[in-house]
Amino acid sequence: MAAESLRDQDLLLKQLKAFDESKAGVKGIVDAGVLTKIPEMFIHPQIDHGQETQTKFSISVVDLTDSAVGMSRHAEVIDEVRRAAETVGLFQVVNHGIPKRVMEEILQAMRGFHELPKEVKAEYYSSDPKRKVRFVGINKLARSSSRNYWRDSFICDMTYSKPLDSKELPEVCRDITMEYSEHAHKLGVTLFELLSEGLGLKPDHFLGLECAKAHYILGSYYPACPQPELTIGVNKHTDRSFLTILLQNHVRGLQVLYENHWIDVPPIPGAMVVNIGDLLQLISNNIYKSGIHRVLSMKEGPRVSVGCFFQHPLDSADRIYGPIKELTSEENPPIYRGTTLADYLQGHFVKGIINGVSGLEYLKV
Ligand code: OGA
Ligand code: NI
Repeated sequence: MAAESLRDQDLLLKQLKAFDESKAGVKGIVDAGVLTKIPEMFIHPQIDHGQETQTKFSISVVDLTDSAVGMSRHAEVIDEVRRAAETVGLFQVVNHGIPKRVMEEILQAMRGFHELPKEVKAEYYSSDPKRKVRFVGINKLARSSSRNYWRDSFICDMTYSKPLDSKELPEVCRDITMEYSEHAHKLGVTLFELLSEGLGLKPDHFLGLECAKAHYILGSYYPACPQPELTIGVNKHTDRSFLTILLQNHVRGLQVLYENHWIDVPPIPGAMVVNIGDLLQLISNNIYKSGIHRVLSMKEGPRVSVGCFFQHPLDSADRIYGPIKELTSEENPPIYRGTTLADYLQGHFVKGIINGVSGLEYLKV
């Protein structure tokens, strides 16, 4: 490495360390004074922000009205969900049963957490994955580049068999996070049933594999950015969950990659975004696709989102997941080896999609 770039690297690491020690996140930098230029540690020279796409393709919005078993739109909805899941791996749903009040309150509460005084938030600042409720400034996915993303994260981990004690949550979001979690779980169950049927399996097949047994909630906060073209909220990745349900506020930025085009996932009042995660791609033997997505930084802000990531309970994560037998045959052999969730999440697969390589690539037979 040339002396110059070594110095650059050194500078970046120093910035990252000071940022981490501030325990104040990106919002701390924005609040510290009038910001016209973003610090070097947020600049991602290699990111192709992509020009406006030419494609007319738009993300499906599936109306879940009358979609339960025996109702008039059951078959039609299964078809719509399946088509989206096997192509883009991402779609939106409306009339999904989560009350409007709950959606508004959880967005408000997550925003409220990030807008608490920095001394209060600092008490939650931690990179220890064992801490169930934590505020995170440095993004794991960005670490390999010694640079960070333009986003702050607040994690409420409910992926343990023992329920999260609501007292561990800060008051600003305590009751609504518990309430939202129940609603998100119910919607998750509905979606797993529809997705199971979409593969010709019994409605409860995925549920039997404990796909909806546990989840964690991630409240993301993307401050308005003075130089959005130089940085990114989250670079391209797939989620390592079975399924992710995401609620976004009115600020755009989320995009999904489809046929080499970045497609906007526009905020629609009342809608929830659903995306297939790596583990569902794995057990469906590649029929369902883990949607590749990212979040652009915006001049406007804050963008607030609440993600609910479904995965198996972490403290009994030795169950092996592999392609479902009913979906494989001699002509259609399993594409992946089985893996335990612990290995998938904690092993070297933890990288997600970095430099274009998804964690699933390492599991190919
Ligand atoms: C994620 C993610 C999207 C968003 O956290 O994995 O893709 O809009 N978030 O915050
Ligand atoms: Ni994601």
